[in-house]
Amino acid sequence: MSIDYSAKIPNNVSLSDNRRLKRALEEWQPRFLDWWRELGPEGFQQRDVYLRTATSVDAQGWATFGYVKMPEYRWGIFLAEHGGDRGIGFGEHRGEPAWQEIPGEQRATLRRLIVTQGDTEPASVEQQRHLGRTCPSLYDLRNLFQVNVEEGRHLWAMVYLLHAYFGRDGREEADALLERRSGSADNPRILGAFNERTPDWLSFFMFTHFTDRDGKYQLASLAESGFDPLARTCRFMLTEEAHHLFVGEFGVGRVVARTCELMKQHQTDRVSEYGGIDLATIQKYINFHYSVSLDLFGSELSTNAANYYSAGLKGRFKEPAHDDDHRLAESVHKVLKPESGRIVASEEPALLALNEVLREEYISDSERGVERWNKIIRNAGVDFALKLPHRGFRRAIGNFKDVHVTPDGDIVSAEEWQRREAEWLPTTAEREFVGSLMKPVTRPGEFASWIAPPPRGINHQPIDFEYVKLRPIAP
Ligand SMILES: [Fe+2]
Ligand SMILES: [Fe+2]
Repeated sequence: MSIDYSAKIPNNVSLSDNRRLKRALEEWQPRFLDWWRELGPEGFQQRDVYLRTATSVDAQGWATFGYVKMPEYRWGIFLAEHGGDRGIGFGEHRGEPAWQEIPGEQRATLRRLIVTQGDTEPASVEQQRHLGRTCPSLYDLRNLFQVNVEEGRHLWAMVYLLHAYFGRDGREEADALLERRSGSADNPRILGAFNERTPDWLSFFMFTHFTDRDGKYQLASLAESGFDPLARTCRFMLTEEAHHLFVGEFGVGRVVARTCELMKQHQTDRVSEYGGIDLATIQKYINFHYSVSLDLFGSELSTNAANYYSAGLKGRFKEPAHDDDHRLAESVHKVLKPESGRIVASEEPALLALNEVLREEYISDSERGVERWNKIIRNAGVDFALKLPHRGFRRAIGNFKDVHVTPDGDIVSAEEWQRREAEWLPTTAEREFVGSLMKPVTRPGEFASWIAPPPRGINHQPIDFEYVKLRPIAP
């Protein structure tokens, strides 16, 4: 399973043995590069960036680090190793060997799943393309670019599946992935959160913490798929995703740490005049990004989700760890819904509630993240706790979309919600204030006023390492 780096498209799928596929992907490659140059990180394409590149797919040491100019990054096709004779672990085909080819009747459904996942990858690169201009440090700039090139690679991962298994309509879908645009009115990205702006670095850290975490759960459930190439693709993507989550969690954690430091130093909880971001503002950003990300899991009750599961296409998070029949025909699950002005739990068929089951895994994971931020606050001796809003808060999809739920989980009237919205979500003034802090800091080892330095550098390098070389480029 070693990676062939001599090929034009690095891969561990023996691409050279399949001339037709190789040619099709080599035709897609320049279109991808055009897209990257036009919509990838703005302004840094010729700079040397200290990036990691995948060199193998095994758990130990899959990455090497070195300076790369982003357009020369070796995007490629990497699948996790075969896990022996994998059987399908759930649904009506449980116990049968995993599919190496797509079962005919699942083609359209599977293509939809792959396209929806694939569409988020270039979307986030587009959303983040202007952030380099206002980086809080070279360390953070490098992390942004690492996330961006890997989202580009995730696009490659999905495009490979489309080209290799879906024939002509797969190729058309692969082209369309380069044509939709985040935030476009005519041809937007498929999912709502991927059409929102990522206007500042606090939003970027929130996005990588909360929205990339949705990606983790979607990929993990596709990693259980009975369609083996999809499962193995997603398994390798998850190893890359872990870094994106690290960037988000530690990014927000460092903002929190800096705020606490300023609070202690100046004996105030209003740190904005000292160049920090108030904890109350951070809480509002959490409310925004968390609620947008919850919608990505879809409706609480979904026949699509049930069908994906029964057909063996998309499992649960860590499917083998669930102690049940892995078919769920008889099981029930409690789902929250509004009823006569209150939020009640109703028992529903588990098969229909799989989106909610996945969302609950996500919620617990997100809670653990918030708890780690609160530990930073406690250790600083500050009396404040961040918290996740209720899952019904500000939802646009599912059971709560037609009611107004406060972060504490009370249903209120539209008027009350509107009157109090500024208590819960970032106001224009707060967004503008956060925006005003976004001044580039580009000397090695220096950090913007609103964020603490990280505890350690990347790949054992010192914190003042030159993660991105910004010295004048020789003519
Ligand atoms: Fe991704
Ligand atoms: Fe990601």
